[in-house]
Amino acid sequence: MEALRQELEDLKAAALNQIERCADATQLEQARVQLLGRKARLTGLLRQLVTLPPQDRPAIGLLANQVKQTVEEHIAARRAALESIPSDEVLATDRIDVTLPGRRPTMGRLHPLTQIIREICEIFAEMGFAVIEGPEVEWDYYNFEALNIPEDHPAREMWDTFWIDPASAKVDRPMLLRTHTSPMQIRIMEQTKPPVRIIVPGKCYRYEAVDASHESQFHQIEGLAVDEAVTFADLKGTLYAFVRRLFGNDRKIRFRCDYFPFVEPGVDMSIDCFRCKGAGCRLCKASGWLEILGAGMVHPNVLTRVGYDPARYSGFAFGLGPARVAMLKYGIDDIRLFHGNDLRFLRQFP
Ligand code: DAH
Repeated sequence: MEALRQELEDLKAAALNQIERCADATQLEQARVQLLGRKARLTGLLRQLVTLPPQDRPAIGLLANQVKQTVEEHIAARRAALESIPSDEVLATDRIDVTLPGRRPTMGRLHPLTQIIREICEIFAEMGFAVIEGPEVEWDYYNFEALNIPEDHPAREMWDTFWIDPASAKVDRPMLLRTHTSPMQIRIMEQTKPPVRIIVPGKCYRYEAVDASHESQFHQIEGLAVDEAVTFADLKGTLYAFVRRLFGNDRKIRFRCDYFPFVEPGVDMSIDCFRCKGAGCRLCKASGWLEILGAGMVHPNVLTRVGYDPARYSGFAFGLGPARVAMLKYGIDDIRLFHGNDLRFLRQFP
């Protein structure tokens, strides 16, 4: 019996080998006849099963039928494989047409806000400002306290925001989504000695009723320059240069007093309306001027808190909303368009 079992195993190995080597359908058909046809050794063995002693028949019968099935399966698989190879004839005629125009991938582009942020940062970078970023989740200390806005100060109402639940964040100090990029003034001054010249783009948040000019999530760009003998004339000259780069060489600027607790004096800056050249139009609401940023001379309390001597150092700071700048520059009348995901809008900014 052992000899018969061995013969069946050898037969299977040889058969599979032969099937694998078949190079086309004709060879495979010849192999099939040789291996499974009437005169095949395997067919003969199956036929002789009846002549075996009854106790050996089940085991040998099972093995012989398994071998037959395996061989059939391999022949079928090899046939499928051979059919998937194109014939010589097909290969000779079925050429790839390399002159067909390619399929152009759809190219993305930078969002208009990203474009304006980069443009603004670039202008200041050329003037020697370092571009840095900071955390959007901020301590109350940096967002308010260190910026000369103590708890219960009414100025906090200018910046209503979203607070982080201290229990779920496992913190023991008040934490919030920053309402402006000004906290980075403090973080940078804490870490470095003057001279400081930085520009900080980033996202800010406010608890805000959304309308055509306000969103509860928006971008700001902060600027800060501190050194010995920095004056309001430096603030004016720097912002003048900036505005002319962005809005054209004949722009005028106007400062008016405004209140921000971290600067003294504080101002808001406007440019003369480039649409109507100051005559008054819809864009400037007939005033001839467009407000574009808040600025001022860094408050001595702020300098003292970060360990700068206000008798020796002075500086200016400013903060602007790039969305507002883009709206003015491109005549966009609704801030919600920026995040509306309407490709007809976005495609206008190549
Ligand atoms: N942080 C102010 C705001 O969000 C804007 C601002 C005003 C920034 C005056 C400044 C500044 O650096 O000097 O309303």
